[in-house]
Amino acid sequence: MICKMSKVRKGTGIAAAYDRWAETYDADPNRTRELAGEILRLAELPIAGRDILEIGCGTGRNTEWLATQAASIIALDFSEEMLRRATTRVRDSKARFIQHDVRIRWPLADETADTIIAMLILEHVEHLKTVFAEAVRVLRLNGRLFICELHPMRQLMGGQAQFSNTQTGELERVGAFLHNVSDFVNGGLSAGFEVRRLDEWRDPEAPSDSIPRLLSLQLRL
Ligand SMILES: C[S@@+](CC[C@H](N)C(=O)[O-])C[C@H]1O[C@@H](n2cnc3c(N)ncnc32)[C@H](O)[C@@H]1O
Repeated sequence: MICKMSKVRKGTGIAAAYDRWAETYDADPNRTRELAGEILRLAELPIAGRDILEIGCGTGRNTEWLATQAASIIALDFSEEMLRRATTRVRDSKARFIQHDVRIRWPLADETADTIIAMLILEHVEHLKTVFAEAVRVLRLNGRLFICELHPMRQLMGGQAQFSNTQTGELERVGAFLHNVSDFVNGGLSAGFEVRRLDEWRDPEAPSDSIPRLLSLQLRL
């Protein structure tokens, strides 16, 4: 079941683009999504037996894995169609899905999560301040915020979430905003986090002087 917590306008914007992408999102070859999933599994985060919040869960590819270990998981996304697929994929009773726009106060009480996972969502969020502030509010002391995003250098070279629209046959680019590495680091520090790790990731076969595909950042409260 999907619980609706904020009004998400249908038809336009980023949520609507993901509604259109949802049908093919899992089947489309997507090296960024695959590498991000691998990075999450390597991150050695406190997940086992913990209360997890995932923002921008999409079709639940990572939610499924997180739910196998967590005590509980709340997964937020503002795309109804992405969530529909996530709820079909993840049947675990520990998982709860909420349709919500993370730019608005999150539907969780203060200090109720141990670890927050944000995979490939923040390029779609123009201002990161609310995200960091809400993460601080809902995390317990020593809680972690794990961010994994398309590397800004990659964005500057034209990298952007995109898909082939099955209705029009055209390539659709999903609205995105550039955040420098320093925006993630300083945004986290200003909100009250400490930085535990910052990593930059290339595909295994990519030359060491190529532009990284992804960055990941682990913050602790
Ligand atoms: C590239 S997908 C990533 C999905 C999943 N995390 C993964 O790694 O496969 C980005 C997701 O973020 C969601 N999203 C983007 N902006 C959002 C917002 N402001 N509030 C909630 N969800 C958002 C989209 O609907 C989409 O499902």
